[in-house]
Formats: sequence, structure tokens, C-alpha cells
Amino acid sequence: MDPHTFDKGGPLYDRLGKLMGDGLVTCRQATHRDKRRLLQPGFRPSHVAAYTDLVTEEAAALCDAWPAGGTVPVTEAMTTLSTRVISRVLLSDSLDDPTTAEVRDCLTDVVRGLFVRTVVPIDALFRLPTPANRRYRNALSRLHTIIDAVIAERRRGADRDDVLGTLLAATRADGAAAPISGQEVHDHLITLLLTGVETQALCLASAFSLLARHPEAERRLYAELDAVLPGGRRPGPDDLPHLVQTRCVVSETLRHSSPGWLFTRVTTRDTELAGCRLPEGATVLYSPYLLHHDPSSFPDPERFDPDRWLPGRPTAEQRRAMMPFSAGNRKCIGDEFAMVEAVLALATIAGRRRLRHLPGHVEEKPRPGITMGPRSLVMACASRSATPSAVPATPRATAAPRASDSRTAGDHGVHNT
Ligand code: HEM
Repeated sequence: MDPHTFDKGGPLYDRLGKLMGDGLVTCRQATHRDKRRLLQPGFRPSHVAAYTDLVTEEAAALCDAWPAGGTVPVTEAMTTLSTRVISRVLLSDSLDDPTTAEVRDCLTDVVRGLFVRTVVPIDALFRLPTPANRRYRNALSRLHTIIDAVIAERRRGADRDDVLGTLLAATRADGAAAPISGQEVHDHLITLLLTGVETQALCLASAFSLLARHPEAERRLYAELDAVLPGGRRPGPDDLPHLVQTRCVVSETLRHSSPGWLFTRVTTRDTELAGCRLPEGATVLYSPYLLHHDPSSFPDPERFDPDRWLPGRPTAEQRRAMMPFSAGNRKCIGDEFAMVEAVLALATIAGRRRLRHLPGHVEEKPRPGITMGPRSLVMACASRSATPSAVPATPRATAAPRASDSRTAGDHGVHNT
């Protein structure tokens, strides 16, 4: 929580910085504040509410195309959804459908290749002309080319009220701050695409996988959706406070199967942490996954139990230990947005479709990557008419939205939606 002593850095971020540029995720503390101030407005709760329609529109279009009785490549579909949503938030309609699909495929290849490049410090290995190296290099280069083309086209055209519009205004120093360079605009967009797509897709894929294995949690979710959104109605911003059970499912998914599982910091001076003396330049690793699976914070941590997050249930200790979006001033800038997107996408899709594991399904073993989650989940799809249920929906009155302070330690924004 002291970013001056525990700065971004270490092998993970140093190498990510070379690959992603000097964006918000990898930058050091000295330049962080200006970058964060520039991007923050696009992710404020007031802005996030404006994105609800585009999330539900994309989610409904996606799942309405799934054949009832067929199979669905769930992880791929969720990656399509999160790519389409984030590209509209960042770039409005600057990417046509085929290019958005290409961006999705490039991001998948880049994210796969990033982790091994951050943990294996032998550059020569990655210069070899292997198919995997070629795929990674082509995807990264194509991603840069697409982003450059979008920026160039926007510079020639009209201003738009989106994240790219904010960044381009900053190159002209329309505000009070010093102008940023074209390279910074590029690095910010690449960073936001790389951070905002896969984490979100894995969170949603994990939620569907967990729900299919926990019929009671699934039944409670359906009961809420049938009560709040009868007839599979698409949710709007006013429905968010009433989607209590849905939000609990997302929160418990983020606890149980946190997509971000390992991060590093570097000490900028000799210091002490939890009784350990650390010299300047030491790499410190922290893992939301381990914190979320510590039985002293979360009894029976392997159990998927969305009710842990019902209003009034989590203790102060659990709120502190729950940090899928990290904490402090380097907390995820997209936390509010990610929660709203996940709740709305889950409500929209689960309101219309029921996803089941295929016969003989074996749960994927967690495989470490830059993120963690089911990377190739395929499920069976059925359409869903209202499910009569003995379990009543969570009463509406329990769900008053709370004011938010996105930097509060460990308060992951679950209650802010
Ligand atoms: C379920 C979805 C998401 C999860 C679990 C997640 C998780 C995280 C975590 C754990 C960090 C802190 C990393 C560290 O401590 O080193 C982080 C930072 C960040 N995330 Fe997310 N994230 C998600 C969605 C998003 C979205 C949708 C965006 C925006 C498009 C985004 C953009 C960022 C950025 C820019 C940072 C760096 C913030 C800073 O250093 O000031 N994330 N995220």
C-alpha cells in the first residue's frame, strides 16, 4: 500500500514494459499520477453507467446467436464480447467487425506469449523461428498496426467522446497538463486492450463453469433474474442495484477463480515487510489467488458460495483480503467498469441461455499464465424459459448502492455497482 517503497517493477513488469510500452500498468510511480489522472475520467462510475446499454446489446446479440441444443466455445465467446465492449469504450465505432475479430485473435496470441517471455529471461529463445514465436510476433505487430491506423484515421476526422478522444485532446494540451506524445496515446490503448479483455473474459467463463457445477447457486441466480428481468428483459442501469445475487456470483467468482493471480513490486529502499527485512531492489510477489484461498480469511475457501457476499455478510477482514483488482493507488482503473460489465453480461446471458458442462467434462487444471482461468471452455447451450423456483429472489430493499472510493484497500468495488 506504500507505492513509493513498493514500486512497480521486477522481472514481470520490466519485461512487460518492453512489450507493452510505458502505459499505466507498467509505469513507475514517478510518472503514474499524470497517466492515471488522464485516463480516470473515462472509468468514473458516472461514465460507467453510460456503458450499460452497449454491454447488454453486445451480450444479447452474442447469446441470441447460440444454437439452443448446440455447443458454445464459452471462453472464445466471452473474449469476443469483452473485445467488442472495450473497443467501443475506447474507440467508439472505429473498428469494423472483422477488425475487432482480428484484434481479439491478436490479443489471445499476445497474452499467451507474454507470460513465458516474462518468466524465461532468455531473449534468444524467442528469436527462434518456431510457429509459436512467429504467431506471437505477427499478432503483436498486427495489433500495433491496427492501433496506429485507428489513431491516424481519427486525427484526420472529427473528435469523438471516447477514451481515444480524451487521449488525442491531451496531445494537443487542450487541458492544463503538458501535452502527451503520440507514442503515449498508442501505449495507453495497447495497455487498456491487453488488460481489459482477457481478465474480463476469464471472469465470465469461470462464472458459467462454476454455476454449472453448483446447481443451488445457479437456481438462486435464475430466481433473481426471473423476478428482476421477467421474460429475459435486457437489464438497464436502474436494475443494477436489484441484481444482488448476480453481483454475488461475480464477486465469488473473482474470489474463487481470480483471473489476476500473481503480481510483483520492487523495493525502492531498504525496508521491512511483515517482520522481514528487505534490501533496496528486492522483488516482492503478491498473489490475490493465495489471499482469496486463505482459510483464515475465507472459511472453506475451495467452496464456491456466492452468499458470502450478500449485503452485510462479508467482514472487514474479508473485504481487506478480497483484492481481485488489487488495492491502493495501483488498483485496477477498470474495477467499476469490470464489475458492471460482468454483472450485466451475466444477467443478460443467464436470463436467456442455460450453459451446461458437456458429458465427461473434466475441470481444467489451473495453468499459470499472465492470467488464470478456463482458456478453452466449451459448454452445451439450452434456451431458458423462466424457472419456477422455491427460492425467492433476494429482496430488493437489501441492495442500496453505496458511494464508492475505488482506492479503498481491498474494497473491490463489488458493492459499488
Ligand atoms: C475482471 C476483470 C479485471 C481484473 C480481475 C483486473 C485486475 C487487475 C489487477 C489485479 C490490477 C493490479 C495489478 C498490479 O497490482 O500490479 C489491475 C490493474 C489495472 N487494470 Fe485491471 N482488471 C480487470 C479489468 C480491467 C479493465 C476492464 C480495464 C480497462 C480497460 C483494466 C485496466 C487496468 C489498468 C490500466 C491497470 C493499471 C492501474 C494502475 O496501475 O494505475 N482492468 N487490474
